[in-house]
Amino acid sequence: MPTVPPPVTAQFASRISAIGSENAFKIGPHIREVESRGTRVIRCNIGEPDFPLPHHIAEAVKREIDRGQTHYCDPQGVEPLRAAIAKSMGESRGVEITPDRVVVFPGAKPPIGFAQEIYCDPGAEVIYPSPGFPIYESFTRYLGAVPVPLHLREEQSFAFGARDIERLITGRTKLIYLNFPSNPTGGVASREQLEEIADVIMALAPPDVRVYSDEVYEHILYGCAKHHSIASVRGMAERTILVSGVSKSYAWTGGRVGWAVLPTAEEAAVFRNLNINYFSCVPAYNQLGAAHAIESPQSAVSIAEMVGEFEERRDFIVPRLNAIDGITCAMPQGAFYVFPNIAGVCDRLGIHDHFASSMFQMFLLYEYGVATLDRKSFGQIGAEDKHYLRISIATAMDDLQEAVARIERASTDVEGFRRFIAKGKVA
Ligand SMILES: Cc1ncc(COP(=O)(O)O)c(C=O)c1O
Repeated sequence: MPTVPPPVTAQFASRISAIGSENAFKIGPHIREVESRGTRVIRCNIGEPDFPLPHHIAEAVKREIDRGQTHYCDPQGVEPLRAAIAKSMGESRGVEITPDRVVVFPGAKPPIGFAQEIYCDPGAEVIYPSPGFPIYESFTRYLGAVPVPLHLREEQSFAFGARDIERLITGRTKLIYLNFPSNPTGGVASREQLEEIADVIMALAPPDVRVYSDEVYEHILYGCAKHHSIASVRGMAERTILVSGVSKSYAWTGGRVGWAVLPTAEEAAVFRNLNINYFSCVPAYNQLGAAHAIESPQSAVSIAEMVGEFEERRDFIVPRLNAIDGITCAMPQGAFYVFPNIAGVCDRLGIHDHFASSMFQMFLLYEYGVATLDRKSFGQIGAEDKHYLRISIATAMDDLQEAVARIERASTDVEGFRRFIAKGKVA
């Protein structure tokens, strides 16, 4: 019998330890472990609408498969989709967009890292909101750039003003991420706030500094909230990378279609070349389905139905959370998350760790079967001593009702928390 050599431990490149991740996906094995013990887990962790792909879009995708749109296609994105994006984004933002400045990606996530690869040399500074979508911070150190978190404070309704960003812009700033409506806080910027921010950027940052405006939740708005884009402010379209996609608006996270509008065709060509290097192209049948989604008048109807349900859930859960002793929760104006402050609960349970919300998050999952995300899932730098959870309301009403009841019970279970810690199960 030939002897099998023992496996050799892989040696990873040093840069790989510097990249972060997205905990909404990383928490999956913990959920499976809890479920394997027979507990039903209520999943309030992931940012994915719990609605099917609207019928008219699904039919369009099937038609395109039947038409044979199943081959390689333009790495920049198929022409009909780029034309539909240029027209709809241009009209809604009041700016002129040509299809040669549009690039299509597998989702709105890839251009986040690509932008840093394209614009940032080592030492370049990247400003991003914190709490914010984790991928903004995740790439910075991996690429040798310098993360500069713009801390959003609950006292200011998680918005920020000119003065907050003013002090962060330096001669080394290359990229500034904005995200309205915002993940995880649900904050929406007014036209006046964006004008103030734009004034500061135009005054302090040279014209080659790019503003990355992540607008993937552009259609998920409540009450009288309206979506405004910084690209609509005079002088900003020339500096702004405008990003959106199909995942949230059309409940189509599995379609993997997102896009960016670049300030110039020259920049679009550089993104196109990264597409060629990484994945060649996005499936043409999904892109053509996305073009139909953008152009069809039926889409406004399906968006309104979905947002109406999210709004009912928001109006249910926010007062219920506020009624729990130790929790305060602001009313989100957009996106589909609530972001309660749980500092009082952490105090009551005797959690005095810098990352108390992470400990409560795990307790809630393992002992009460509710999956949420902790504060440090939304930017690690400066997340110490900030005790929040993100709860996704893209979760059926029955489940949300049960989730709040479980959170309430967990919030007073001092003895249960002590036993949980003794088991050593904190991530
Ligand atoms: C703010 C923000 N940007 C980008 C994305 C990426 O979305 P996708 O790649 O599914 O289009 C998400 C997903 O949750 C998000 O919340």
